[in-house]
This record gives sequence, C-alpha cells and structure tokens, in this order.
Amino acid sequence: MNRPIDLLVHGATGRMGQRLLALAPDFPGLRLVAAVARSTAGLVVPAGVVLPATRLADAPDIGLAIDFSLPEAFDAALALAVERRAAFVSGTTGLSPAQRKALEAASRQIPVLWAANFSMGVAVLTELVERAATALLGWDLDIVESHHVHKQDAPSGTALALGAAAQAGGAEPRYASLRAGDIVGEHWLQFAGAGERVELAHRATSRDIFARGALSVGEWLARQGAGLYTMRDWAQAPR
Ligand SMILES: NC(=O)c1ccc[n+]([C@@H]2O[C@H](COP(=O)([O-])OP(=O)(O)OC[C@H]3O[C@@H](n4cnc5c(N)ncnc54)[C@H](OP(=O)(O)O)[C@@H]3O)[C@@H](O)[C@H]2O)c1
Repeated sequence: MNRPIDLLVHGATGRMGQRLLALAPDFPGLRLVAAVARSTAGLVVPAGVVLPATRLADAPDIGLAIDFSLPEAFDAALALAVERRAAFVSGTTGLSPAQRKALEAASRQIPVLWAANFSMGVAVLTELVERAATALLGWDLDIVESHHVHKQDAPSGTALALGAAAQAGGAEPRYASLRAGDIVGEHWLQFAGAGERVELAHRATSRDIFARGALSVGEWLARQGAGLYTMRDWAQAPR
C-alpha cells in the first residue's frame, strides 16, 4: 500500500470546498493536511492546518492541491503547486486565456488536470454531444444552462466544454444562461432540424458528485508524471 498523498484544499470555505473537506476521509489514498480560504473565520477541518490565503506560503509540504475557488484566487494556488512539485487539480471556472496558458506551462513541471465538470454523467454527455453533432450536421444547436444565483461566470464552464465538443463534431452552438434559486447545475442541449429535434440533458442534484470526482482524480493524478491531463485520460486509465 502506497503512503497517502498529502492534500491541500484551496477554496475550503466554499460550496465545493466544504464538500471536499467532508468527503476527503472517504479516500484512503489521501490525507488532508491544509485547508485554505480568503477568510478562514469559522472554518473547521477534521485534520491539518487552516490557512488564510495571505499565508499560503506557510502551507506544509503537499503532494496534491485541489482548487475550487475563483479566478482571482487561482494563480496563487497554481504557483504553490508548482513550487511544491505537487499535482494540481482545479475545477475553478471563468479562467482567462492567460490562466489557461499558465496551466499548460505548469504541466511541463507537475501533473495538472483542470475540468469544467468532474461528474461521470457529464463525461458521458460530452461524448454523446460530439457524436450527435457529427451525425446532425447543419442542425441548430442551443445549450441552455441553469445554476444558483451566486454563480459568477456565464455561460458555465460545463456549457462551454459541451459547446467545444459540439464544435469538434461540426456544430455551431449558441448559449443561454439562467441564474435562479439554489440550482446545483443543469445543462440542456437541443439539436433542431427540419421537422424534428433531439434533446440531451444532465441535472446535478448534489455537489458531492463533483467533489468525489475531484478527490478520485486527485488520488490518481498525484501518481502520474508531469503533464496536462483530461477527464478522458482519467476515465480510461487502468485501475
Ligand atoms: N468543475 C466542477 O465540477 C465544478 C463544480 C462546481 C463548481 N465549480 C466551480 O468551482 C468554483 C468554486 O465554486 P463554489 O460554488 O464552491 O464557490 P464559492 O462558494 O464562492 O467558494 C469560493 C471559495 O474560494 C475562496 N476564495 C475567494 N477568493 C479567494 C482568494 N483570493 N484566495 C483564496 N481563496 C479565495 C472563498 O473563500 P471566502 O469564502 O473566504 O471568500 C471560498 O472558499 C467556481 O469557479 C465554480 O464555477 C466547478
């Protein structure tokens, strides 16, 4: 049995961060050693140290950083992972082109996996969308996403990733976004042709699917060499 990987959670007070902290003990390959947020008031962790973002440099040695924060917090988390030679998993959406480039640059030194969505259902949906777009060439495609009112970016990272898969199949997607109540995340796609329509949808009812996905990816990623990995790499890896 390999020694557990020391884990830092970045964005630990957030909706996702809280689920990561709660579920990390279910992953025997990981050991929580640090939780970081902008303000750590009231942040309680089952193990490890709690650090405000201003003291990120005081973090202990880590083998893995999992970041679900905000674009303005992302750069510091990536820099820490590179400095500590730790694997880096991030689900933060709304990143700028420069931040995507920084992920690529970091992947020459450490294993990196960024994904707009860590759920198995969306991984399968992404493949279905590319297949449908290839088969339904010339049909209109609309992608409608709904999220809770606190979500800052629009369209969602998942909608854009589904759109990229559709573009790879030859479609030209249009996007619409709804922000309402406490919706965890819903994506609905409509391919419309003459006299017929095809609809595909994914509805997340719990953030645990994203948190479990990210923790499982992290367990695997920390044992890989430097490189830029995708959810498809993880799903297809031998276990
Ligand atoms: N890829 C996926 O599967 C997936 C799934 C769900 C969400 N997401 C994305 O994950 C991100 C987080 O979502 P969420 O709903 O958890 O957001 P949230 O509830 O707003 O949490 C954001 C977290 O980031 C922290 N933060 C903010 N500024 C910071 C800074 N300068 N330095 C360090 N930490 C800072 C916040 O700390 P304070 O509370 O102290 O401000 C909080 O802990 C978003 O980009 C969201 O779109 C991705």
